[in-house]
Amino acid sequence: MKRVFSGIQPSGQLTLGNYIGALRNFVKLQHTHECFFSVVDLHAITVQQEPALLKEQSEAVAALFIAAGIDPQKSNVFMQSHVTAHAELGWMLTTLTYMGELERMTQFKDKSAGKDSVGAGLFVYPSLMAADILLYNSDLVPVGDDQKQHLELTRDLAGRFNARYGDTFTIPEVYTPQVGARVMSLDDASKKMSKSNPNPGSYIALLDEPDVIRKKISRAVTDSGREVKFDPQNKPEVSNLIGIYAQCSDKTIPEIEAMYEGLGYGPFKKDLAEQVVAVLEPLQQRYRDIRGSGDLQKFLKQGAERAAAAAAPQLRDVKEKMGFIVF
Ligand code: TYM
Repeated sequence: MKRVFSGIQPSGQLTLGNYIGALRNFVKLQHTHECFFSVVDLHAITVQQEPALLKEQSEAVAALFIAAGIDPQKSNVFMQSHVTAHAELGWMLTTLTYMGELERMTQFKDKSAGKDSVGAGLFVYPSLMAADILLYNSDLVPVGDDQKQHLELTRDLAGRFNARYGDTFTIPEVYTPQVGARVMSLDDASKKMSKSNPNPGSYIALLDEPDVIRKKISRAVTDSGREVKFDPQNKPEVSNLIGIYAQCSDKTIPEIEAMYEGLGYGPFKKDLAEQVVAVLEPLQQRYRDIRGSGDLQKFLKQGAERAAAAAAPQLRDVKEKMGFIVF
């Protein structure tokens, strides 16, 4: 069975962007692949985190994985820090990564822009991400558009290691949704929807109350026209909303355009809000059930044990090939 790996950082509230760009595909792929889904806490600490908040958000993200529909018996859901092989392989791959490659990463440029001091962890972040993926010989990595550059680097590092030390790593493929690989901010369609945006009106959090969702969508920026038409070049805001509609319903983009022809933005936004609420309300109910059940620890422990067992032979092989003494 082919393997899938992906991760989400517990560095804030998960948004509809995370759901449409990544989480939804995790759920889909678990039926056809052996899956490893990790809450990547080691990545989260590349920017300063408040310890109590990190812990709470880590549990929240793990619970959201399951609430979104990932079956923890079937897929491996675990904390990255529980499987120490990630940090070990991360270091080994860091030694194979060039400074120039890391300097070109747009996520690093964005996160370090305007800062006086930037942690070294933020710089070598992509090498750890490559380790996450390569540790399981993953075939497929479901992510949003913004992670494509990191995936390219992962492929380069795998190829470099294989060329230097002999065939070891599978070269992974990126898997992005056709619509919604880049869900944009509700207040500015030139920026991606992000959990780190200080304006909560710019994103829909997966745990936003239905009325908050309705309010945020009704206030979402649109152009001064009234035509519900998918035209990302000239109507980026409305096109973003149409993309969200398509992802939260069983309608295609042309069907949505036809439904609202001549009706203007008002009815479209109203229905869109109900579509989003219909997707998120049951997810929120499952989330509350999981957090209340006390089962999360058990799932995470079991996920970590299985992931560690899958990672161990690969790490051992890497160590042997690099010339470490292995017992
Ligand atoms: P993170 O935690 O920022 O985001 C998690 C996933 O959500 C996707 N995403 C979006 N997709 C569409 N529209 C958006 N507005 C949007 N915002 C976020 C991201 O592309 C991502 O798939 N580096 C990763 C975490 C990571 C990882 C990995 C991913 C660490 N190791 C190994 C895959 C494989 C990150 O920061 O994602």
